[in-house]
Amino acid sequence: NAPLRLGIAGLGTVGIGVVKIVRQHAALLEARTGRKIEISAVSARSRDKDRGVPLNGYVWEDDPVAVATRDDVDIYVELIGGTDGPAKASVEAAIAAGKDVVTANKAMLAIHGQALAEAAEAKGVSLRYEAAVAGGIPVIKSLTEGLAGNEITRIVGVMNGSCNYILTRMESAGLSYAEVFAEADGLGYLEADPQLDVGGIDAAHKLAILSSIAFGTRVDFDGIELEGIERVSIDDIHHAADMGYKIKLLGVAQKTGRGLEQRMMPCLVPDTSPFGQLQGGTNMVAVEGHAVEQVVLRGPGAGEGPTASAVMGDVCDIARGLRLPVFGQPADTLTDAPRAASILP
Ligand code: HSE
Repeated sequence: NAPLRLGIAGLGTVGIGVVKIVRQHAALLEARTGRKIEISAVSARSRDKDRGVPLNGYVWEDDPVAVATRDDVDIYVELIGGTDGPAKASVEAAIAAGKDVVTANKAMLAIHGQALAEAAEAKGVSLRYEAAVAGGIPVIKSLTEGLAGNEITRIVGVMNGSCNYILTRMESAGLSYAEVFAEADGLGYLEADPQLDVGGIDAAHKLAILSSIAFGTRVDFDGIELEGIERVSIDDIHHAADMGYKIKLLGVAQKTGRGLEQRMMPCLVPDTSPFGQLQGGTNMVAVEGHAVEQVVLRGPGAGEGPTASAVMGDVCDIARGLRLPVFGQPADTLTDAPRAASILP
């Protein structure tokens, strides 16, 4: 079997995690997939930065589009991030060039997922994004594969580790939102634009993607009723604790008689419940299906190893020849669900 050759754009935490797995676990990857997995070319904003892994064996391209369209690249791995810009341009170029794509880009998929899925399916290439939702937790694969025989009735999840870190740290240290925000930002726990995290937007991107797969609907990010954690005060947390509750940024997606309900907002959860016990950057997603009843997935929502683990799972699927529709069913069969009216007063 010919080797499967990757082109990677974006050499931040996740990109370096992917390079390490490819370099350090080559035999395991080959045994699992029947193909050697190699890296042909890489791209990132800064060429000279020391990233702690040797990159001199790979072609360097300044332009991600050049990586995405090289003849010696079979899978384009997009780890740049951002809704538009070079991430979207390079993914579109890769699809147009007939390359399979693996991405961790939740913002791009939440906004442009439908168009990208249609383009990928028209070209007969894969577009896979396990790493985009809940880091190391294989929730996309669970929905599209293991749970494919279920009518999904509800998804509930904590899908932003940064917000969960802030809320649990406020509680355990008795610190204000502003103090913990500054601390988390200093530790590099927040997105480059922290508003994406604390405004609930990042978590809502992830929920929109899961809803599409679960309910066979087009990604509808704008249909999410959204509130972030910026207004959660230490008093709120103490009052909730007095009543036996914790405050979590909880996403819910479910079909109701009023239409598809999608919401991401701070919620009270019993402190002894699995969601109430969720600490730090951990994510948790509960999926309810008519046959399976409930499955709960829990694990690290970010970080080098966990997110690279999800990227490599997608790479291995492609290496094995597995082809799936992007959102679990052909993109041209996804429907627009009516939005349920607001649950807020
Ligand atoms: N900022 C995100 C989080 C990173 O905290 O969950 C992973 O998507």
